[in-house]
Amino acid sequence: MGYLELVFGTLTVAFLSLVWSFLVSIALTPYFKAKRMREQGVRGPKGSFWSGCVEEISHMKAASREMVMDINSHDYLNKVVPHYVKWISQYGGTFLYSVGRKPRLCISDPDLVKQVLSNKFGFYMKLDSGTEVAALLGNGLVLTEGEQWARHRRVVSPAFTMDRIKTMTRTMADCAKSMLDKLHNKKEVEIGTMLKELTADIISHTAFGSSYSAGKEVFFAQNELQMIVLASFLKLELPIKKYLPTEINKRRWMLEKKLRETLMGIIEKRLASKEVGYGNDLLGLMMEACMSEKQEEINMSMDEIIDECKTFFFAGHETTSHLLTWTMFLLSTHQEWQQKLREEVLSECGKEIPDSNKISKLKWMTMVVFETLRLYSPVSLIGRTACKDTKLGNLMIPKGMDIIIPIAIIHHSKEVWGPDANEFNPLRFENGVSKAAKHPNAMMAFSIGPRACVGQSFALMEAKTVLCMILQRFSFTISTDYKHMPADMITLQPQKGLPIILRPLKA
Ligand code: HEM
Repeated sequence: MGYLELVFGTLTVAFLSLVWSFLVSIALTPYFKAKRMREQGVRGPKGSFWSGCVEEISHMKAASREMVMDINSHDYLNKVVPHYVKWISQYGGTFLYSVGRKPRLCISDPDLVKQVLSNKFGFYMKLDSGTEVAALLGNGLVLTEGEQWARHRRVVSPAFTMDRIKTMTRTMADCAKSMLDKLHNKKEVEIGTMLKELTADIISHTAFGSSYSAGKEVFFAQNELQMIVLASFLKLELPIKKYLPTEINKRRWMLEKKLRETLMGIIEKRLASKEVGYGNDLLGLMMEACMSEKQEEINMSMDEIIDECKTFFFAGHETTSHLLTWTMFLLSTHQEWQQKLREEVLSECGKEIPDSNKISKLKWMTMVVFETLRLYSPVSLIGRTACKDTKLGNLMIPKGMDIIIPIAIIHHSKEVWGPDANEFNPLRFENGVSKAAKHPNAMMAFSIGPRACVGQSFALMEAKTVLCMILQRFSFTISTDYKHMPADMITLQPQKGLPIILRPLKA
């Protein structure tokens, strides 16, 4: 055989095996995964060969997008996740659908969800969320897996012990005070935007210490990236399109560069001050782990620190700001609870700036915050992928199957929470979170298991501190301009903001 024939033969074999593996991944594997689930009695919408159920989802979401709800209704599932509501009513709580060629199993039984989320043996990993989400969140704790995740979690966890959080409460209160001082001569404000800026300010101060002002630039870059990510959801495009210099990609790359340079600037400033230590904040802890020769097993590279900073900045302010916004909404529309909370705040803290000990005594406030997290969970769904063939309840889950956990659906289920599941009733949390529903793990706002939110105590302390200080100074009602339109924009938020009327209380 001549040289050319040999090259030609090799190329042909390589080409054919490429075509074959493409066919396997695009046609055969998804087909057999779905078939295996259907053979076990799992039903669901068929969808089209290429796009799966994407068109149906897009149509349903577009149709419900401008829906304005009654201000007293919390039953927004038909607006936010209309496709899940429809499919659950047709096929039951466990059903199969597909996004593009990828089949997805949706499970809404808390027992099954617990099995997936509590698994410590690496049977499930995070769903691949795509390059856009990674650009926004960074390849930090939320998205990493395996040994890298365990190493990062070990570095980061000490920053979130209760003792640490207690020391951060004063910073949270100082940031809240400077926002509230600006509100005193205002009557009507769009409180959602203000709370987003406030929580960004708090995470800037607590994570980056003295470099907090650079946090503003991180905030603006991430805000715009979030819009780009949102626009990319449910668009079926050829994977190569992400790498082409389209206008939107160029903008995304520019923002990513800006984000990286800003964070690099903060880190370099910190490096320059290493003689006096890296600091006690989150960045200081990570840099300590990165630099210390003694702690080789938890060494972090500079790129990992940058990614982790992106993660903490986004995860640390976006969710908490919406928790605060929805609590303000519920207290505006339930004046009796607003009054009850104010009385509790004034009796425990007076008009003083609250400290962590006083905050932990606010029982009614804790119940209201949990009820808000239940009704308006900032994260509406989470996902996992099975890493190996696995048994889940009575089902055999094939390796590679995506699993969707619709938190919003579970939080509004009458089977789980009782007939008043769609009503605001903080008293259900009177005996603690695990006794509030028929299932002890029904509250999933922070997820459960080893990948549960590391910032949970931080978020609760922050939310209660800010609410406490608002209640000390103002009474508030909802503006007549408010339109009740909950929308899932990566996090659940009021689509048109939350305008409220503030009335300063007598000193
Ligand atoms: C109301 C506020 C918050 C809510 C509702 C919330 C919700 C969640 C949820 C549901 C997850 C799990 C995601 C999954 O399993 O796929 C998560 C993970 C995470 N959250 Fe939060 N979060 C909040 C506040 C915070 C704050 C304040 C921080 C940091 C300061 C933070 C940092 C993280 C991180 C780093 C993870 C990944 C943990 C891991 O995988 O080990 N979150 N959060």
